[in-house]
Amino acid sequence: MSATTVEPKPITATANHKVPRSPLPKAESCVLVIFGATGDLTKRKLIPAIYDLSCEGCMDDKFRILGVGRSAMSDDEFRASMRDAMTQAKGKPINDDEWKKFAGRLSYMGGDPADANTFPNLAKKLEEMSKQGASNNHLFYLSVPPSVSPEIVEGLGRVGLAKNDKGWSRIIVEKPFGRDLNSARELNAVVAKVFDESQVYRIDHYLGKETVQNILVFRFGNSLFEPVWNRNYVDFVEITAAETLGVESRASFYEETGALRDMVANHLLQLLTLTAMEPPVAFDANSVREEKVKLLRAIRPLNNVKDVAAHTVRGQYGPGTINGKPVPGYREEKGVAKDSRTETYAAVEFHIDNWRWSGVPFYVRAGKRLAKPLTEIRVHLKPTPQALFSRNRNEHIEPNIITIRIQPNEGIGINFAAKRPGTEMHTTTVHMNFSYEEAFATKSPQAYATLLLDAMRGDATLFTRGDEVEAEWRLITPIEEAWAQLSLPQSMIYPAGSNGPTGADGLITGRDHHWRDLQEQYAPGGQVR
Ligand code: BG6
Repeated sequence: MSATTVEPKPITATANHKVPRSPLPKAESCVLVIFGATGDLTKRKLIPAIYDLSCEGCMDDKFRILGVGRSAMSDDEFRASMRDAMTQAKGKPINDDEWKKFAGRLSYMGGDPADANTFPNLAKKLEEMSKQGASNNHLFYLSVPPSVSPEIVEGLGRVGLAKNDKGWSRIIVEKPFGRDLNSARELNAVVAKVFDESQVYRIDHYLGKETVQNILVFRFGNSLFEPVWNRNYVDFVEITAAETLGVESRASFYEETGALRDMVANHLLQLLTLTAMEPPVAFDANSVREEKVKLLRAIRPLNNVKDVAAHTVRGQYGPGTINGKPVPGYREEKGVAKDSRTETYAAVEFHIDNWRWSGVPFYVRAGKRLAKPLTEIRVHLKPTPQALFSRNRNEHIEPNIITIRIQPNEGIGINFAAKRPGTEMHTTTVHMNFSYEEAFATKSPQAYATLLLDAMRGDATLFTRGDEVEAEWRLITPIEEAWAQLSLPQSMIYPAGSNGPTGADGLITGRDHHWRDLQEQYAPGGQVR
């Protein structure tokens, strides 16, 4: 290691006074109808997010939540199960008075989307709720597998709930939107027959994260960085979404999905898109999404098996250790086939065929049961053209790296060279760090709270457009198809708690590039993780 590896204290680039979060706006009044109301997402994310919004005073008196699920359940049973789920999600008991106020807005209706009576019953129920003071605006949330979405959309259309003459009707469709290019096209076509695109909100919760939205502010709100944000200065970009969690209780979903569809097809492509897109003409839904689609279309698809074999890596976690505790391998998890081929790790080298990014690789990787939970984007700049300070010494200056930390330790770090104190000219790398926690007095709302509020206010900027999801699948489907033909790589299994499969290093080292080591103690930005 050279003299540049000294770990100095980070320079902190925070404001010297704490800036409070801007107040949350009010939602438009509505009834939120959740299909899949007894599912994992409703319990872990949706209800806690709406509860937070309600406690913040974002909802008016006409706001209600109607859960729809296959099981029969009374309103009170539904309320009790949501309260249990909330306590679990928050990790502490919730305030009784706040809960009582919130629970009064909750009700439940049993109904199978495949049953012809479900939608007339739903229309009747909404009518009754309106008579009892609920809003006439309807926000339908499809928290169901993609195969079930078409029958719900058609059912809503049949009973006239998609066109609402007493208020508005909007629909939120949870990811994954389809499972490949064809099914996404089919689903888009079904949705388009019933709803106008302006009523449709395809959700990718990463876009609701504060730090993800900040990518655009960082790039287009500062004149310091954008001039270097191109092939002339950037060597490569690395995007990581590492989790220590395993498949948890979602084996049946995950066996059908895998890391590429679950994470790369949406969250990671969205991060890549925001990092690489051109500036939009305005910050509104169409201008932003127009630029995102253009960027996605400029990404070179890996259209043959040879390219897929050369530019992708997949892996599956084996037994190992997480936080000092032994954990089973993926194939030992409940509900997973003993010979499962499903990848729990995927890495892809993408290239963008446009003027700005020609020749700059974008390496993305996502995996479960890795060494550390961490999502970040690292923009590696090119080295200086001349090694001015190392003529007579074996000392080199590390190129600058800009790290956008999506989570945890939300913020941005910049590595740059500085002179080490002393009479001789020795250099070292220092870290300049902006931390959300230090700079702002209050915590950001959860991603789902931000997005639900946006949908209730009719702002689709942070939602994915129909052509955008198709542009994403156009990149992912050929990889899935080639993987189905290729035999599993020998180094597929990686120990839980590691950096992932060793093959992933081969993907990136070709041009002296390297992944951020998930096991290192110091992250760029000087944060100890
Ligand atoms: C979900 C995936 O979309 O994102 C999960 O289905 C994954 O498998 C999760 O764990 C990660 O989200 P976050 O917000 O925890 O990074």
